[in-house]
Amino acid sequence: MGTGVMDTAQPVGVAVVGCGTISDQYLANLTSFPDLRVLCCADLDLERAKTQAEKYGVPGAGSTAQAIGHPEVELVVNLTIPAAHAEVTSQAVALGKSVWVEKPLALDTAAGRELLAEAAQAGVRLGCAPDTVLGAGLQTARRLISDGAIGEPRTALALMQDPGPDRWHPDPEFLFRPGAGPLYDMGPYYLTALASVFGPAVSVAALGRRSRDQRVIGRGARTGTKFQVDVPTYVASLLGYAGGAAASVLFSFDSPLRRHGFVEITGTEATLAMPDPNGFGGEVRIRPAGSAEWTVIPATGATAGRGIGALDMARAIRTGVPHRASGDLALHVLDTMEAVARSIAGGTFEPVPTTFPVPDVLPAGWDPQARTLT
Ligand SMILES: NC(=O)c1ccc[n+]([C@@H]2O[C@H](COP(=O)([O-])OP(=O)(O)OC[C@H]3O[C@@H](n4cnc5c(N)ncnc54)[C@H](O)[C@@H]3O)[C@@H](O)[C@H]2O)c1
Repeated sequence: MGTGVMDTAQPVGVAVVGCGTISDQYLANLTSFPDLRVLCCADLDLERAKTQAEKYGVPGAGSTAQAIGHPEVELVVNLTIPAAHAEVTSQAVALGKSVWVEKPLALDTAAGRELLAEAAQAGVRLGCAPDTVLGAGLQTARRLISDGAIGEPRTALALMQDPGPDRWHPDPEFLFRPGAGPLYDMGPYYLTALASVFGPAVSVAALGRRSRDQRVIGRGARTGTKFQVDVPTYVASLLGYAGGAAASVLFSFDSPLRRHGFVEITGTEATLAMPDPNGFGGEVRIRPAGSAEWTVIPATGATAGRGIGALDMARAIRTGVPHRASGDLALHVLDTMEAVARSIAGGTFEPVPTTFPVPDVLPAGWDPQARTLT
C-alpha cells in the first residue's frame, strides 16, 4: 500500500470494502473513471480482496482497517452486506473519510441518522446507492418532466414482481433477512426514482405477505441448501407526497411472473413510462391524454453503470458543491421503507418524518470518462 500524502489536485483516492457479487460492476467502472484512483480492495475474506485487486489492477488489498486507513484514500466505497453497512461506514467516517455506501444506508433510520450525524461532525460526506437515478434513462425522464412534457406530475404506479433472488444469488440468505426482502432490496431503486420526481413522501400505508417460510438456494456451491425467510416477500403500498402527489407501489419476490422496471408517472396532460429504475439506460415513453400511441424518447446522457454516484460525489468533494445521491435522500428512502414496514405490522397509515433537498438533474454533457480533476 502507498504511503504518499493526499494531493487535492489529483484524482480522488478510493478504497473498495466488500469484494462480493456486486464488486465486479463497481470495480470495472470505478477503475475506468479518470477522476478516481482505486487504491485498495478489502474484504473479511482476504482472498476475495486479493482476487478482485488483481483482476482490476488495484495496487493494494487488505483488511478493512488497512484500506480505510490508507493515507491517500479519501472516499471509501462500502459494498458489504446490509448488516455491515453502518459499522464499516462509521469506521471510515471516524478516520475522516467520506463514504459511498451500497443501499440500504443502514438497517434502520436510527442507525442512518447516527451515521449522518457522525459524518457532519467529522466534516466528511455520505453518499448512498442507488445511483441508477443518475443514469441517462432516469435523467432523461426527469428532464422531460421538469420541461412540462406531462403537465403537473400527480400520481404514479410502480411494480416489481420477481420469483426471488434465491434462484440466482450464490449466498442469498441476507436478501431474505431484515435490511433486505423485496421492500429493502428493490425498494430503494423505485422509491428513489419516485422521490426524485415528487420530492419527499409524508405518509404511507401497506400490506405485507410471505408465501413461503423457507427457500432453497438455486445456484452456486450451496445449491439445494434450505434457509429461513424472515421478511414479507409481497409488499403492496400507498404513498402520499408532501407536494400532494400519490403513488401505488408493489414489491414482490413471490411472483412466478418476472416484471421489473414498471414505473408510470401520470401528469395532468400525459403519462410517462420511466425506464427500469434498477438500470442506467433505457427509453422513456410518453402517452398524452387522448392518444392511443406511446411516443418513444431515447435516453440521452452518460450510460456508465454502478459507480457514477460515487464519481459525482468525488467530483463534488473537490469542487465544493452538493453531491446528488446524498445521505439525506437515502435516509429519507430508508425512512419511507421503515414506515411501510411499520404500516404492515400495525395496519395503520404511518408518517414519514425525514426530508431531503431534491438533487439537480445532471448537466446534459456530464461525462464519467472525462478527466475534470487536474
Ligand atoms: N448483488 C447484486 O446484484 C446487488 C445489486 C445492487 C446492490 N447490491 C448491494 O450491494 C451490497 C453487497 O451485495 P453483494 O450481492 O455483493 O453481497 P455479497 O455477499 O456477494 O458480498 C458482500 C461482501 O462483503 C464482505 N463483507 C461483509 N461484511 C464485511 C465487513 N464488515 N468488512 C469487510 N467486508 C465485509 C463479504 O465477505 C462479501 O465478500 C448489498 O448492500 C446489496 O444490497 C447488490
